[in-house]
Amino acid sequence: MARATVARRYATADGRGEFFEGDNLRSLDALVREREASVALAYLDPPFDTGRVFETQGRLAAGDGKTVAYDDRWSDRAEWLEALASRLARIRELLAPHGCVVVHVDPRTSHYVKVLMDELFGEENFVSEIIWRYRRWPAKTRNFQRVHDVMLRYRKDARCEGRWNPLYEDLAPSTKATWGTRKQRAVVDANGKRLRSTTEDVESKGVPMGDVWDIGVVAPVAKERTGYPSQKPESLLSRLITSLTDEGDLVLDPYAGSGTTAAAAWKLGRRFVTMDAGEASRDVVLARLAAIGANLRHEDHPEKTSINVKVAAA
Ligand SMILES: C[S@@+](CC[C@H](N)C(=O)[O-])C[C@H]1O[C@@H](n2cnc3c(N)ncnc32)[C@H](O)[C@@H]1O
Repeated sequence: MARATVARRYATADGRGEFFEGDNLRSLDALVREREASVALAYLDPPFDTGRVFETQGRLAAGDGKTVAYDDRWSDRAEWLEALASRLARIRELLAPHGCVVVHVDPRTSHYVKVLMDELFGEENFVSEIIWRYRRWPAKTRNFQRVHDVMLRYRKDARCEGRWNPLYEDLAPSTKATWGTRKQRAVVDANGKRLRSTTEDVESKGVPMGDVWDIGVVAPVAKERTGYPSQKPESLLSRLITSLTDEGDLVLDPYAGSGTTAAAAWKLGRRFVTMDAGEASRDVVLARLAAIGANLRHEDHPEKTSINVKVAAA
């Protein structure tokens, strides 16, 4: 559970990026009071109810001696779900009519979260369950290796057309072997019976992206690795942001951690609001964003905003 601190705000000079330090429930409340429903994409990667305390690693841990990143211990699952529900209720209010929310959890809790989201957003607003499949060092277990997380996507309002920028993945090797890389065209006879396809004279864009995404975890030697625990790969967030928002849109992430969503949003020309209750997160977010040109300054003391840690510009 994160400490309940009063929100402190940091923003870029042009207002395109904001970070709220403190309990995200208060920060979301402040946003609901002040802003219109204008969020195109809200991405939530909350603590997964693991019963563990997460510590900073590597250079980050050695640097400033603050080793606790966040505490994921709860009295029971109900408490964890209630905490998530109260944040999601605020997020629903902040979403633009065309907006959507993606909640990132693991297979131990995804079924509870789906029922919760059906209640909060309506079953008709469920749009996809995306499986993030990753490779990692095999664990010793008499079970299949656990190598996926679950991302549940709901839209705010089924009557509004949401943002959609289609993405493509590579053609299957068997398709390439039979048809090459040219676009295929389905051929049907006069009775509507499917005949052998033909190819057109244009290159295929690939296969429309499916809902199982094979993306590696952030490797220990990766340039983007910050030393903050549970850091998600920027390519995962870039994929979500590219397909579900347009340039200039607002992306919200109330569980910033190392600031992956904010970094990806900034690089893709989107605006962002991100939040976290932990000091280690604040330090990493400010440093990571500064390294890519998004200098977040404390709203009351812009001149005093100091950055305690070094993060490479990935
Ligand atoms: C799983 S991590 C997020 C990791 C992030 N997606 C990344 O790529 O680095 C969850 C984060 O949520 C934060 N958090 C948990 N409860 C919170 C709360 N009530 N208010 C604000 N932040 C909270 C923790 O401090 C932690 O940094």
